[in-house]
Amino acid sequence: MEIITKIKQMQAKSDKLRKQGKRIGFVPTMGALHKGHLSLIRQASSENDVVIVSIFVNPIQFVSGEDYHTYPRDFQRDEKLAKKAGVNIIFYPVVEEMYPQELLTFVNVGRLNEGLCGKFRPGHFQGVATVVAKLFNIVKPHRTYFGQKDYQQAMIIKRMIEDLNFDLELVIMPIVRDKNGLALSSRNTYLSKKETKAALVLSKSLQVAKELLDSGERRSEKIISRMNDLIQAERLAEVQYLEIVACQTLEPVEIVEKEVLIALAVIIGKTRLIDNMLWE
Ligand code: PAF
Repeated sequence: MEIITKIKQMQAKSDKLRKQGKRIGFVPTMGALHKGHLSLIRQASSENDVVIVSIFVNPIQFVSGEDYHTYPRDFQRDEKLAKKAGVNIIFYPVVEEMYPQELLTFVNVGRLNEGLCGKFRPGHFQGVATVVAKLFNIVKPHRTYFGQKDYQQAMIIKRMIEDLNFDLELVIMPIVRDKNGLALSSRNTYLSKKETKAALVLSKSLQVAKELLDSGERRSEKIISRMNDLIQAERLAEVQYLEIVACQTLEPVEIVEKEVLIALAVIIGKTRLIDNMLWE
């Protein structure tokens, strides 16, 4: 496994691989790899000749007061996991390499930025779309892999690819959960034992929503209210948002008539967690 830290070197490597006719699968990450990332890597491995993973904690997607400085960083651990999972190249730049001068160009995917997490993390998705656009230009992949766990992020990247004609395919992979149902996230490492237990209320509330929808309830308000009751009953949990939205536009839906996304953000102790479920 090769580790590349310089943009020019990464671009030259990808050009060479492309000239050799190799298909490049790309998994962008901020490190702190877990089984969710590994499922993206495995999928990329099965569909491409070369798998490139980027590890870069992107400062411009953290809103003031968020955990940029404390975000888990353990390159040696990530390196081992990536190697074991079959990654061929890690692109691991420092901040000065990615942002050598004041950044004046940003990618903003309009309305899709505004709802759900966007309401509570102003500027976050602009930071994500901008760094991902840069990474696409650096890594030059044929396919890129994102997790459904960050559904809004995946939809924003999908739209950016379409609107800006990036010549690559986006693959969205299902959420990976632990045996109790907690969606895997790098931020789960912040949770104490008690909080980890309390965090199960996220997936449980999605299960309640699914059961209500399966049994014919169509009013979002009723479903959200039941989810809210369940979460409120958990002392350590504070709801940030609970929404039922259209899968593509992410606009709130009052009466469920076709496929929807049920999405939530809940703060457990000091940790903000998100989860979601697609329902058809
Ligand atoms: O999902 C993440 O880890 C990040 O938002 C991403 C896509 C790597 C961009 O920094």
